[in-house]
Amino acid sequence: MSRAAPANLRFEPSGGLTGELLAPPDKSISHRAALLGAMSSEPVRVERYLHAADTRSTLAAVRELGALVEESGEDLILRGAGLREAREPSGTIDVGNAGTLMRLLPGWLAAQNGRTFTLDGDDSIRRRPVDRIVEPLRAMGATLEAREHRFPPLEVRGARLRSIDYELPVASAQVKSCVLLAALAADGLTSVSEPARSRDHTERLLLRAGVRIERDGTTVRVLNADELALERVRVPGDASSAAFLVAAGVLVPGSRLLIRDVGVNWTRTGFLRIVRRMRGIVLGDLEEESEELVAEEPVSDLDVAHGALEGATVRAEEVPLAIDELPLVALLGCFAEGETVVEGAQELRVKESDRIAGVVESLRELGADIEATADGFAVRGGSGLDGGVLDARGDHRLAMMGAVAGLASREGVEVRGIDAAAVSYPYFVEDLAAVCS
Ligand code: S3P
Repeated sequence: MSRAAPANLRFEPSGGLTGELLAPPDKSISHRAALLGAMSSEPVRVERYLHAADTRSTLAAVRELGALVEESGEDLILRGAGLREAREPSGTIDVGNAGTLMRLLPGWLAAQNGRTFTLDGDDSIRRRPVDRIVEPLRAMGATLEAREHRFPPLEVRGARLRSIDYELPVASAQVKSCVLLAALAADGLTSVSEPARSRDHTERLLLRAGVRIERDGTTVRVLNADELALERVRVPGDASSAAFLVAAGVLVPGSRLLIRDVGVNWTRTGFLRIVRRMRGIVLGDLEEESEELVAEEPVSDLDVAHGALEGATVRAEEVPLAIDELPLVALLGCFAEGETVVEGAQELRVKESDRIAGVVESLRELGADIEATADGFAVRGGSGLDGGVLDARGDHRLAMMGAVAGLASREGVEVRGIDAAAVSYPYFVEDLAAVCS
């Protein structure tokens, strides 16, 4: 849980980003592939696993729970412990900074009848609520205790689970996935409904693993299973990491950038649709919204070029489809003509940092005309950013936003704590340097 002193780096105004980059592997899908591999009885091969701080925490966790993980370059072979056979570790499971691990793993652990597990993480994790998973897992029959009923450390005592019909108060792929994982070892058909659709990687992987699962609008139904048959997962490039490159390409004059192998699952491409609405130039073959659940994760190359932007409004139903990219919408808004508004995004307050406060305070510091609202922010754009100093607050996405802000600014930005990028995109600075002139 200890971290080295934060590294500071200046990002000077760029003359344009040109050339091509391969998007780093997807963090959400890597976490899920490792967890489902650990829950499988047969070996699972994962190709292009993300080797970043968050997803390394997941590998360490599944090893402690009895899975064997062989690493060969970017790929993994997992020999899992099985759906109901996780080993009780001697100590606490350290999730580090990984909220996805903190919320998905208890779904599996809740089904380990008679065994007890404790999960904890860094200071940021300890400030982020887990009551949203405690409630459904208790309803399924497990026993959970959290600090002040809400925060990690979280203790999970496994039980024989019963199926439930659960309505999420807020759309959250993490909470939905937690219930779906628990449902695999429950006693029948479980359903989970959300107020709006959120990323569906868990559902797609479960379908591939032979689980009986279907989606009807915003409700997912899953039947318990004896085992998973996943065999092989290829992780596509991360649309959320690629979004920083897209933003840089769109904002910096003279840019023309090709980003290869980006996952373009409809539930992850809300940001790209917003950029297009702002008149940003992003060519690529994005997946269309579909009625049916599909197993495949589509990929596309994205061809990005600089151009003038117009302000846009992002409404609540779009928020889960662009949740991790909303800081970038604020940044684009600084350069767009007119107003850019994000509504219905109060979830940003419980991310790796309070991202409404972090985005608004740090962009204002760089010269933006931006204000926080109760559930998002509003930017009056058109004049770009002067520059200055941005404190990443230990949040990988604020750190990377600061770097892109520097490239697009008039005077450059010093990012305090750029090392936070290692959580999801460890070679972000090197990738930027390779395409910046
Ligand atoms: C994630 C879901 C999102 C997102 C997070 C990763 C996931 O959280 O912000 O970075 O992998 O399921 P919520 O769905 O809980 O908002």
